[in-house]
Amino acid sequence: MQEPTILSIETSLDDTCAAVTRGLRVISNVVSSQTSHHATWGGTVPDIAKRLHKEWLPKVVTLALRKTGITDSRIYRYTDIRNIDAIAVTRGPGLAPSLEQGISYAKELASNLSLPLIGVNHMEGHLLSSYAQTKNVTKGLANPLYPALGFLISGGHTELVLMRGIGNYELLGVTLDDAAGEAYDKVARMLMLGYPGGPILAEMAKFGKPVINFPEPMTNRPDLNFSFSGLKTAARQYLEREKPELTREFIQDFAASFQTAVFKHLIKRLRRAIDLYTPQMLLLGGGVVSNTSLRAAVRDLAKEYDLPTYYPKNKKLITDNAAMIGIAAYYQYLNNDFIYSKSLDRLPNLNFPKSS
Ligand code: KG4
Ligand code: ZN
Repeated sequence: MQEPTILSIETSLDDTCAAVTRGLRVISNVVSSQTSHHATWGGTVPDIAKRLHKEWLPKVVTLALRKTGITDSRIYRYTDIRNIDAIAVTRGPGLAPSLEQGISYAKELASNLSLPLIGVNHMEGHLLSSYAQTKNVTKGLANPLYPALGFLISGGHTELVLMRGIGNYELLGVTLDDAAGEAYDKVARMLMLGYPGGPILAEMAKFGKPVINFPEPMTNRPDLNFSFSGLKTAARQYLEREKPELTREFIQDFAASFQTAVFKHLIKRLRRAIDLYTPQMLLLGGGVVSNTSLRAAVRDLAKEYDLPTYYPKNKKLITDNAAMIGIAAYYQYLNNDFIYSKSLDRLPNLNFPKSS
């Protein structure tokens, strides 16, 4: 049987994304970032995001279809809009006005082309992003081992998920306040590093020494939850108290100190989850996984346990993108998990895993 070809749309925040996948293979994956349009405001502006998604979606979808020819000449001849088997779209979690645009465009396409619709949870997309098979890099997970432990670290979420199989998930731990990526962005802002500052702060940390002793969060709580707001406050208080000159050297040391505390917290929870649940493999997902030092820290830990660790080898699959939505949608397709257009609505606070 021919694997289904799915056109996916992702607009949960401020990236306008469309992708074509066939089974687990990524045929095209277009991400059009709105960052420069929000940068002056220091954060995502919902009205701007909404307007740009609406304006860009037709172009981004067209490009995703056209690009199928660039990455795979065999599919080029066949993949036009008539050869798509389903339309998938992110339902949530995310920013309501942003989600709305992707959903309404997906509905329009599905209705015009008489195609089934699949509503996808953005966080399941991040969790399954390592399963994606790209042309040159990841072979994907040929032999997945369960139970797996998913570690999702993004701008909106920080979660530990026990995965007993595709679609069988249990939430083990969650952030009680800010997400890890959000903390990076906020601390970067205090240092006037621009927006989004997380990746810049991480780059600075590579060259600094952790000379400031930031408190590791939640040392007195032996659970699997996270907290980053105390760390953020400690960073702000340090800057208010010491009023340092923001030289490059200071920023590098400050960033390294902040990152050291973040890693201690993340790795301690991860170790605890491994000890408690004895997973057979580790899946990393979400924008913060772009951080190479974090991946090195996770790798060191995984080595101790002889635990295979996967994350998308293609950078574009780590941060928000539509191909990961296509991967999650593929499994839903196999389960006939389609949704009527009328029932498909944006769910800005959609949990993952679904609360029962
Ligand atoms: O998964 P993602 O693209 O979007 C959400 O679903 O939130 O994650 C974006 C987050 C941002 O907060 C960004 O600052 C953070 O990922 N991020 C990083 C790095 N690259 C992106 N944080 C730390 N180190 C990085 N290298
Ligand atoms: Zn995301």
